[in-house]
Amino acid sequence: MLKGRHFILGITGGIAAYKSVTLLRLLVKAGAEVQVVITPSGKEFITPVTLSALSGKPVICDFFTANTGEWHSHVDLGLWADAMIVAPATACTIAKMANGVADNMLVTTYLSAKAPVFVAPAMDLDMMAHPSTTANIERLRSYGNIIIEPASGELASHLIGKGRMEEPDNIVKVLEEYFTAKKAVDNSPLNGKRVLITAGPTYERIDPVRFIGNFSTGKMGYALADEAAARGAEVTLVSGPVSIEPKRPEVKVVKVESARQMLEACEEVFDSTDVAIMCAAVADYAPAAPKEQKIKREHQEVPVIELVKNPDIAATLGHRKREGQMVVGFALETDNEVANANEKLIRKNLDMIVLNSMRDPGAGFGTDTNTVTIITPDCDSVSYPSKPKSEVAADILDNVVSLMERRLT
Ligand code: CTP
Repeated sequence: MLKGRHFILGITGGIAAYKSVTLLRLLVKAGAEVQVVITPSGKEFITPVTLSALSGKPVICDFFTANTGEWHSHVDLGLWADAMIVAPATACTIAKMANGVADNMLVTTYLSAKAPVFVAPAMDLDMMAHPSTTANIERLRSYGNIIIEPASGELASHLIGKGRMEEPDNIVKVLEEYFTAKKAVDNSPLNGKRVLITAGPTYERIDPVRFIGNFSTGKMGYALADEAAARGAEVTLVSGPVSIEPKRPEVKVVKVESARQMLEACEEVFDSTDVAIMCAAVADYAPAAPKEQKIKREHQEVPVIELVKNPDIAATLGHRKREGQMVVGFALETDNEVANANEKLIRKNLDMIVLNSMRDPGAGFGTDTNTVTIITPDCDSVSYPSKPKSEVAADILDNVVSLMERRLT
């Protein structure tokens, strides 16, 4: 998995720099090309001669090579690399990386790197625990950098202490896992596809403090959004009021309240969407004339709320779709399940429908599991056992992908 890949190994001035020699050796053994960039204080701990002998390349420390005056382009290095690994990363270098203090070749290269950056902190326990360091590490995480630390099991942290640099073979494992996952995403048919997902309930206002809604928690739609993003899709999640968030930061969330707002948000992006998955529990009706003021109890008569029909978002998009677009719906049924779901599939002009039966114990609103049957017009329906919603999301997307592939052939 690491063969032929280009790595920048950034070494800073910490005792753990000796471990970088092993890391370098393992990377070279795995067939990678490694360019070592060392900070001036890194050289106090480890000699560049050892590093260049192992990597087969001169070690870069300064912007210029002293005797020839050759300039090292951090920009070219940043473009060359498939990944940069800073190991050990001292508190000082982490602080510089977090704040863009580009006063040496390592941090300059870091700022120019287009590739993923892995950071293995190594420092004294108290330095690691200082709020300044933890804040800087969090900042690196928020830039998308991957922090590699020893597993913090209770026993492990007790025995070893926080701040110890992760062992080189574990760093190599993290890199291998990263590139294996990346390869799966690169090869995924959903990679680069635009996916629109609706989730959660809609709230239809009666007055400023009351609404008509339902018990949907959004868990299924959010799980779908996370799974689609994990497969490389560009996800827009149009969500009704819920108390959860997507796990993956790449998911773009558009928050709405009512069915009408949900339709508007969907219509805005639908034309550039490849797959739309309508997972929201949209209220079928809304109060015809929501009151501007709170309805008071002292009314002489019991109020009657007149309702109007809400737009059917799935049907609107289903009838608007062009060749090549796909619209997937859900059907929540209590009886005559398959017949009702089939009828919805046709009426809403959908490509696939995911049926949940309210009769199944592991299905429905608020649960962490779901039991679904997936129906497509051109093939037999598939029923799945009760599973966590994350796995149901994977099953649904597998079916979307296989339908996409069937249509291409
Ligand atoms: N749906 C929608 N807009 C609506 C109602 C439903 O987009 N106004 C979508 C849901 O997100 C789901 C599918 O349509 O994908 C079916 O929802 P469901 O509530 O089961 O069906 P309804 O059409 O509302 O039919 P009924 O309530 O009569 O079963």
